[in-house]
Amino acid sequence: MLIAIGSDHAGLEMKMEIISVLKEFSHEYVDYGTDTPQSVDYPDFGEKVADAVSTGKTERGILICGTGIGMSIVANKFPNIRAALCNELFSARMSRLHNDANVLVLGGRIIGKDLAKEIVRTWITVPFEAGRHVNRLKKITLIEEKTARK
Ligand code: RB5
Repeated sequence: MLIAIGSDHAGLEMKMEIISVLKEFSHEYVDYGTDTPQSVDYPDFGEKVADAVSTGKTERGILICGTGIGMSIVANKFPNIRAALCNELFSARMSRLHNDANVLVLGGRIIGKDLAKEIVRTWITVPFEAGRHVNRLKKITLIEEKTARK
């Protein structure tokens, strides 16, 4: 699986930890930055990762900022994006089973690195359950289409 990953300064350390998990699973990744601890604006990095997933350049994306909230707001502006902010394991698992989340968002200032790595392991291995959830996702797509600005 090819995964886009990005963070702001508040998620940089966690991003590097997560990259080690992707390597552990032999997943390929594209790192969209940031690369230094200098303060940056999270929308700039959220946009790059969400665009990569939205346009099909990568299958999935992972974003990290301080709380995960800003990156979630940015990513969910993009068509075809189902970004899930998961700072614990149950949400990570359910975001795959029920929501087929294609972007995982983490709060670098909320959780520790070991939990973050376990969340990523869960999120990249749990499949979409499909079944009754397929129609629900179709309804989300319809809302996306109805609300799209021409
Ligand atoms: C940066 O200070 C912080 O605002 C950002 O990382 C994020 O938490 C925004 O939602």
